[in-house]
Amino acid sequence: MESTNQISKTTFIGNNVKLGDRIKIWNLSYIGNNTIIGNDVIIGSLCHIDYDVKIDSNTKIEGLVYIAPKCIIGKNVFIGPSATLTNDPYPPSKKLDGVYVEDNAVIGARSVIKSGVTIGKNSVVGMGSIIIKDVPADTVVFGSPAKVVYSREDYNNKMKKWERTPKY
Ligand SMILES: CC(C)(COP(=O)(O)OP(=O)(O)OC[C@H]1O[C@@H](n2cnc3c(N)ncnc32)[C@H](O)[C@@H]1OP(=O)(O)O)[C@@H](O)C(=O)NCCC(=O)NCCS
Repeated sequence: MESTNQISKTTFIGNNVKLGDRIKIWNLSYIGNNTIIGNDVIIGSLCHIDYDVKIDSNTKIEGLVYIAPKCIIGKNVFIGPSATLTNDPYPPSKKLDGVYVEDNAVIGARSVIKSGVTIGKNSVVGMGSIIIKDVPADTVVFGSPAKVVYSREDYNNKMKKWERTPKY
């Protein structure tokens, strides 16, 4: 059967990569060996998604994102432009541990996340944040180092209000 994926000819796909259905990958992105990408995932341009990464279904990754080897990303996650998910606190060490992003999390543009950290289910990381410890589920964190500021419920209410407010 013909593939339902839309993958730019300029994307590099490594060996033994497993791709689901209806995936879109835009220009000049890199997918490393053994990485697994679920259904309906969208990956923007100029992303580096390294080896042994798992990305579950319906996750959206904006341009210029770096995802280090061994990171695990859940379902319905949003990763904003230029976010960096790291895997080595003392490079170049011989031990690597990825970042774990649970379902429905949002990672703001240009945030940087330390190796081994878990971004909890439904949590939100503000743009430009430095995350050095686990983020509890259902919370919004931001800053450097990031701290819990309010709840995901508050964030959802702010989003609804934003969507309702006319631009001008
Ligand atoms: C975290 C976030 C949701 C907070 O939004 P908000 O609740 O509307 O926050 P406000 O703009 O009302 O700011 C409240 C306070 O937090 C501070 N603040 C807000 N976002 C911040 C951030 N990312 N880092 C540091 N401080 C931040 C503000 O300076 C303000 O501080 P003050 O009270 O001392 O003046 C938002 O700033 C953000 O980062 N969204 C993600 C955007 C993104 O990455 N989009 C990618 C798609 S293109």
